[in-house]
Amino acid sequence: LRPLPLDTPNLPPMLPGGLPFVGHASELRSNPVAMVQRGRDMFGDIFCVRLPGTLGVVMTGHAAQEKYFRFRDDEVSQREAYQLMTPVFGKGIAYDAEPQIMKEQLGFFHGALRESRLRTYTDGFIAESEHFFGQWGETGEVNMLEVGNEVTLYTSTRCLLGDKMRFKLSKEFSELYADLEGGINVISFFAPYLPLPAMRRRDKARVKMVELIEKIVAERRADPEGHEDILQTLVESSYADGRKLTVDEITGLILTIMFAGHHTSGVTFSWIAVLLAQHPHIFRRLVAEQREILGDRERITYDDLQKMKLLEGTIKEALRLYPPIILVMRRVLKAFEFQGKHVPEGSMIIASPAVGHRVPEVFPEPHRFDPDRFLPGREEDKRWPYGHIAFGAGRHRCMGIVFAQLQLRALWSHLLRNFEFDMLDPSYPVDYTNLIAGPRPPCRIRYRRVGKRSAGA
Ligand code: HEM
Repeated sequence: LRPLPLDTPNLPPMLPGGLPFVGHASELRSNPVAMVQRGRDMFGDIFCVRLPGTLGVVMTGHAAQEKYFRFRDDEVSQREAYQLMTPVFGKGIAYDAEPQIMKEQLGFFHGALRESRLRTYTDGFIAESEHFFGQWGETGEVNMLEVGNEVTLYTSTRCLLGDKMRFKLSKEFSELYADLEGGINVISFFAPYLPLPAMRRRDKARVKMVELIEKIVAERRADPEGHEDILQTLVESSYADGRKLTVDEITGLILTIMFAGHHTSGVTFSWIAVLLAQHPHIFRRLVAEQREILGDRERITYDDLQKMKLLEGTIKEALRLYPPIILVMRRVLKAFEFQGKHVPEGSMIIASPAVGHRVPEVFPEPHRFDPDRFLPGREEDKRWPYGHIAFGAGRHRCMGIVFAQLQLRALWSHLLRNFEFDMLDPSYPVDYTNLIAGPRPPCRIRYRRVGKRSAGA
C-alpha cells in the first residue's frame, strides 16, 4: 500500500476515527452515508478520509458538487476509480479503454437511445407491464425489491436483445448475469482479481456470455432486417477508423449498459412502491393524474407517458431520497484547490448523491417526500443544477435518464391503474451491503387488484 500524502500542506480536515491499515474503509462499507454525513456535519463541503492505499476527499453540497462534476477527463479520471468493472466489461472496454475510445464506445449508446428507439422500447415496457403484472392474483404479498429487479431484467432483455429473446433467453441470461454480479463487491474495489470462488464464477460467466452473444450476433449478421434493439445498434456500429466491433466488445458494452441501468432502475421501482404505500394521499393524486390523461383508455402510448408530470416528479423525488448510487468516485490527475484547501494528485475524490440530496439549503425540508418540489412554480432541481445528482452531472451524466424515466413511468402507470398497495413492515431501511443501495429485504408490500385483468396476461 502506498503511504498517504498526509503531510501535504493545507489538506482538507481529516475525519476522526478509522482503523490502522484500512482507515475508514470499514465504516465506508457498513454505512457510507452515515460516514459522509458525519464528516459534512463536522467540516462542511470538503474533508478527508483514509482508504487502503488512497487518500479519499469527500465533496458534498452544491458548490462542491458543481466543482466535482465540472472537471475535465484530463483533470480527474473515472477510469482509475472504476477498475473493479474491468473483469465484467472486459479489457479495453468502457472504463478500461483509453478516454477517446471510451468516448466512441459510449457514443454508440447515443444511437441506441435516440428518440425513435425509445418509442420502440416504450412499447416493450408497456407490453411487459401487462404481461408481468397480469400474472398477479387479486391480492398478495410480494417482496418489492425482487419484483423490481425481476421486471426490469425482462424489460432490459427486451431492449437489449429483442422481444423474442425476452422469452427464449431470460433464464440463461439472468443466471450468467447473476454470476457476473456476484463478482462485484467491496473487495473487488481494491483487488478485482483475487482467486476467490465468486471471482472465478464471474470470469467463467463472462466467457459463456460472450459465447451466447456470439451466436445471436451470427444470426443477426445472416438476417439483419427488422431488429430494433441495442444489440443491433452495436452490430451495425463502427469506430471512427472504420473498424467493426468484435463480439467481445459487443458483449462488454451490452454488460456495461446492463450494469448501468438494470439494478438502478429495479431499486428505484421498489422505492416508489415503499414511498407510495407510506403516502396514500400522493398515491390518490397519481391515480387521478392517470384518469385525467387516459380517461377510460386501457392502452397507453409513449406520448401519454410524456404528459404524466406528477409521476415524473414522484420518480425524481424517490431518486432524491433514495439514490441507488450513493457514492461516485474519480482519481485526481491534477492537484486542485477548493475553498482554500489543497487536494493532491493521486487522491480519490468522492461525491455523494445520498448526502448531497439532503442539504436543506438546496432542498428545503429535505427528509420529506414531496414530489411537488419538481413541478412548475418550484422546480428545485432547475434552481440548483448540481443539487439533484442521482444521475450524476456534467460530461459523464447518465445516458439512460430518459430511458429510466420512461421505463419507470410505464411500469407505474400500469400499477396505478390496476392496484392499491399497503405497507407490511413498520419501516423500510436502506441496505448498504450492495453497491446499488435498495430497500433491505424482505421489503414486503401487500397489493390488491382494483382494475380488471388486462388482455396481455
Ligand atoms: C452514468 C445513475 C439508469 C446508462 C450514470 C451515473 C449515475 C447514474 C450516477 C454517473 C456515474 C459517475 O458520474 O461516476 C443511474 C440511475 C439510473 C440509471 C440512478 C436509474 C434510475 C441508466 C440506464 C442506462 C444508463 C437505464 C442505459 C440504458 C449509463 C451510462 C453511464 C451512466 C452509459 C455512463 C455515462 C458516462 O460516463 O459518460 N448513471 N443510471 N443508466 N449511466 Fe446511468
